[in-house]
Amino acid sequence: MSVEVQSARTRLVPFGEELWVADGPVCSFYSFPYPTRMAVIRLANGELFVWSPVRLDADLRAEVDALGAVAHLVEPNALHHLFLPDWVKAYPAARTYAPPGLKKKRRDIRFDAELGDAPEPGWAGQIEQIVLKGSVMLTEIFFFHYKSRTALICDSIQSFPRNWFKGWRGFLARIDGIVQPGIGAPREWRLSFINRKAARTAVERLLALGPERVVPCHSDMAASKGGELIRRGFAWLLH
Ligand SMILES: [Fe+2]
Repeated sequence: MSVEVQSARTRLVPFGEELWVADGPVCSFYSFPYPTRMAVIRLANGELFVWSPVRLDADLRAEVDALGAVAHLVEPNALHHLFLPDWVKAYPAARTYAPPGLKKKRRDIRFDAELGDAPEPGWAGQIEQIVLKGSVMLTEIFFFHYKSRTALICDSIQSFPRNWFKGWRGFLARIDGIVQPGIGAPREWRLSFINRKAARTAVERLLALGPERVVPCHSDMAASKGGELIRRGFAWLLH
C-alpha cells in the first residue's frame, strides 16, 4: 500500500459482541485502488486489540478511545504497515506485533513481538491465532475472536465488485480471480503455495472453530455463515 487516493471520514461501527470495524481511505497498491478496513476487539480486561489499523484521524481516535485503552497493535501480514507508525506514535504504551517478514521490512517501527501459531499472552483464550503458511511469497495470520465468533482474514479472501477496477487493472484483476464472482487470494499468491498441505491445515483449523462472521480487509464482510464464505474463498486450496 502506498498513496492514499480517496478519503472519507472514518467511523467505527459495531459488528459483533465486543467487536467493531472501521473502513479507512482507499489506497493505491501498485496503482490498484484498495479499500482499507480495520477491526477493534475489546478484551475481557477492557484493553483493546487493534487489527490492521487504518489511517488514524481525530474522529477515529476519539471513537477508539471511548471503547477502552489501546493495548495491542497487530498487523496480519507484511503488506499491511502503512498506517502503523501513526498508531505507535499515538499510543506509545501499546505493544506492537509483527507478522512474518514485517520486522525486517520496517526497521523504523518498534515491534515488541513477532506473531506465530501460538496466541500471544495478551489475548490467549479470547482470540485464536493461526498462521496461513506454505507460501514463498506471503504469510498471513488468521485471528478468531471467540466471543463474537468472528474470523479476521486479511488479504487471502478478496472479491471486488465487477466495475471496481477500471481498464487494464480490471483485466488483470479478473485474471487474478479477485473480481466477482471470483473470490480468493490473487492468482500469483495461490501459485506461490509450495506447501499446500500446510496452508490447507491452517484453513481447516480456522473452519473447525465455527466462524459465524468474517471480516476481510478488502472484500464484503459476512455477518453470518462465515464458514461458507471461507470455504468459497479457499475452494482453490481445499479441493
Ligand atoms: Fe491488504
